[in-house]
Amino acid sequence: MMELAKRRGFIWPSFEIYGGVAGFYDFGPLGALLKNKIIQKWREYYVIKEGFFEIDSPNVMPEEVLKASGHVNHFVDAMVECQKCGAAFRVVDLSREQTGKDIEGMPKEEMNQFVKKHRVRCPNCSGELGKIFDFNAMFRTAIGPGSQRVGYLRPETAQGIFIDFKRLQRHARGKLPFGVVQIGKGYRNEISPRQGIIRLREFTMAEAEVFFDPDDSHHPKFSELAGEQLRLWLAGDQQHGKEKLTEVMAGEAVKQKLVCNELMAYYLALTKRFLLDLGIPGEAIRFREQTPGQRAHYSSETWDAEVSTERFGWVEVAGLAYRTDYDLSRHAQFSKEDLTIFSAGKNKKVICHVVEPSYGIDRPLYCMLEHSYVSEKKRKYLRLKKEFAPIEVGVFPLLNRDRMPEKAREVHEALRAGGLMAEYDDSGSIGRRYARADEIGTPYCVTIDHQTLEDDTVTIRNRDDTSQVRVGISGLANTIIDLIRGCS
Ligand code: ATP
Ligand code: GLY
Repeated sequence: MMELAKRRGFIWPSFEIYGGVAGFYDFGPLGALLKNKIIQKWREYYVIKEGFFEIDSPNVMPEEVLKASGHVNHFVDAMVECQKCGAAFRVVDLSREQTGKDIEGMPKEEMNQFVKKHRVRCPNCSGELGKIFDFNAMFRTAIGPGSQRVGYLRPETAQGIFIDFKRLQRHARGKLPFGVVQIGKGYRNEISPRQGIIRLREFTMAEAEVFFDPDDSHHPKFSELAGEQLRLWLAGDQQHGKEKLTEVMAGEAVKQKLVCNELMAYYLALTKRFLLDLGIPGEAIRFREQTPGQRAHYSSETWDAEVSTERFGWVEVAGLAYRTDYDLSRHAQFSKEDLTIFSAGKNKKVICHVVEPSYGIDRPLYCMLEHSYVSEKKRKYLRLKKEFAPIEVGVFPLLNRDRMPEKAREVHEALRAGGLMAEYDDSGSIGRRYARADEIGTPYCVTIDHQTLEDDTVTIRNRDDTSQVRVGISGLANTIIDLIRGCS
C-alpha cells in the first residue's frame, strides 16, 4: 500500500532530491485531494452540524503564550541516546518495540530501571543506552531579526483559540456551551520518527474546543448519540494488564461514570461516527483511556480514539481531553486579562471548562488507505468510500481513432464543468486504464466507444464489481454525482 501511495502520488518523503528528512512528507496530487476531502468532512461534522466557529491563527507563537499554556515546561518526551553511536530514541517506542510493554507515563527513574532490566539496546548498533532525559518537542525560533523575541511553532492549534477567548465569547453572544475549531499545521520535533505519516514533525490537526459552564456539561443533542455503542479500554484494565474492552452505550457510559461527562461521551460517539464515515470499520475502532501518568499536563481525563492497522498496530487518530479550566485560568493569570464569562443561570461570572476533541488528519488518511486496499487474485484496488475518491471519474476513449478521443475530451470537459474531478486517459489498453483507475480508487469510469458516436451514449463502469451500464451523455455529470452520493 505504501509503495502504491508513493508511486501514484498520494504521499512521498519531502526533500527527496536532497536525501529526505525523517518526519516530513509531501502530499502529492492525489493525497492533497484526499486530505482536503477529509478536512471537508470534518468541517461538515464540526462547523456545519455542531455549529462551531472556525478561526485561523498564526503557526508561530510568542514564548509568553506557550509558557502560560505549560508547553515550555511540560511538552517533553522521555529521550535516550546510544552511548556507542549517539543515535537518539523515544524511550517509550524503543521499549515497546523490544519488550512489547508500554511504559508511557512511567516515572523517569523507573524507566531507567526498566531499560536496564529488560536490556533495551540501540536498534542500530546494539550499543548501551545512556540515562533517560526530557526533550522539549517544540521547534524554537526567533521572531524578527536579531533574535530579540523567542517564538515557537505551535505544537497544537488549540492555544490560538484559548487566547482569543474574549472575542470569541462575544461572537457567541455569551451563550454556553459554544465551540470553536481550528484546522491547520501542528509542529513537534519528534525524536526519531520512523513510521511514515503516522509520526510527522509537521502535521495537520483539526481541533475543537468546547467551552461550557462547569456545572452544566449537558450537550443539547446528546439524545441523538446516547445510544451509540462505544468500545472502551478503561485505564484500570490497562493498569492491571487486561486487554478487555468494555462495550457500552454513550448514555450508559456517563451514568456508570466511566466517562467524565455528557459532552465527553457525546464527542466520543461523534468521533466514532466520523471514523465510520471515513470508511473505517467499526471493529477496528476503540477508545483507550489514558492512565494518569500518560495524560497531558492540562487534562483530567483523556480518551484516545484508536484504529487498528496491519502495519502499525493500534494507531491513535484523535485525542479527546477534558482540559478543565486549565488553559483559560493560566492565560488569565499570565495575561492579567479577565477571561471569565457571565453565566445567566448563576447570575455571576464563571471561568469556562473545556472538552477538546483533537484530531490529526494524516493518521486517519493513512488508516483509510490501508483499510480500503483490496488485493484480489486478478486485481488490486482501493475501495475508498466513493465520496472520498480523489479522482471521481475516469474518461476513456475505447480507441485512439474514429473521433473517439475528440468525443471523450468533450465528455471530460463537460464532467469537469459539472463539478466533477474527472481524469482523461487514452494510453494503453482499456483494461490497463481500468486497472490504473482501480488502483487509486476511482469509483466510475466512462468509456466512449463506437456506439457513442452513433447515439450519444457511454458506458459507466463501477469500480467495486466491474459491472457496466449504458447511459445517455446528456446529464452525465448529474448521473455520476448521484451515483457517488448513492442516490441512484
Ligand atoms: P502520540 O501519543 O502518538 O505521540 P499524542 O498523544 O501526542 O500522539 P495528541 O497530542 O493527542 O497526540 O494530538 C492529537 C492528534 O494529533 C493525534 O491523535 C494524532 O492524530 C495527531 N498527531 C499527534 N502527533 C502527531 C505526529 N507526530 N504525526 C502525525 N499526527 C500526529
Ligand atoms: N490539542 C491536543 C494536543 O495537542 O495534545
